[in-house]
Amino acid sequence: MTAIPQIIAGNWKMNLTLSQGQEFIDTLLSMLNGKELSRELLLAPNFTLLQALAPRCTGRGIGLAAQNCAFQESGAFTGETSVAMLKDVGAAYVLVGHSERRQIFGERDELLRQKVRAVADGGLVPIFCVGETLEQRQSGEAFEVVISQLHSGLAEFSSSQLIVAYEPVWAIGTGQTATPEDARSMHLHIRKFLEAQFTWGERVPILYGGSAKPENAAELLAQPEVNGLLVGGASLDPESFLKIALA
Ligand code: PGA
Repeated sequence: MTAIPQIIAGNWKMNLTLSQGQEFIDTLLSMLNGKELSRELLLAPNFTLLQALAPRCTGRGIGLAAQNCAFQESGAFTGETSVAMLKDVGAAYVLVGHSERRQIFGERDELLRQKVRAVADGGLVPIFCVGETLEQRQSGEAFEVVISQLHSGLAEFSSSQLIVAYEPVWAIGTGQTATPEDARSMHLHIRKFLEAQFTWGERVPILYGGSAKPENAAELLAQPEVNGLLVGGASLDPESFLKIALA
């Protein structure tokens, strides 16, 4: 089995203005000082920052992801942004199905399936997010819920360019991280599903997300099948983001 390079992805959510985002990248690059990391870095800023950040990131080992997209190609969809538009301004990845999209904006499996497909059809890489709520975990349904989200979201997926992010909803922004054992057992489960579903399933990076921070990154990243982290709050500061990448 080929080793999957680990990925540290920062999800800025609805934070950081253009000048703050530019300052972040400049600080990060100066801290890196030309040093190559063994892990890949990705950042998911707001749409409004993508175009300006792209030239700062290109060729410097920082990939750009959008946080959302429309599945439609173009037309009368006020307020929406197509995959082609995101590609045009420098995004190479798109987060799909983040729990905030599912819970606050009511995005359902059927819509997410269309989005995942649109991202791949548009030549970008979906970062498909899955995860159970606290209630679901407590009632012993965590594995079932996550596998059903994967099953339904990836039902029409045929590209081999895919990243999965396991983000237990109860761990997002709460300071409560899954234990390394929780993460490991879910990641093993997800890997089994991916391998059973796709001939290339063993090559899909599976990221963990949910209160990942410098203090717990090394332990999480040491777990089998944890191929990286999707970091929210701790990705807003270049120093803590880099600490995680170096953990
Ligand atoms: P958090 O967010 O690290 O702030 O918990 C993670 C995410 O939502 O991707």
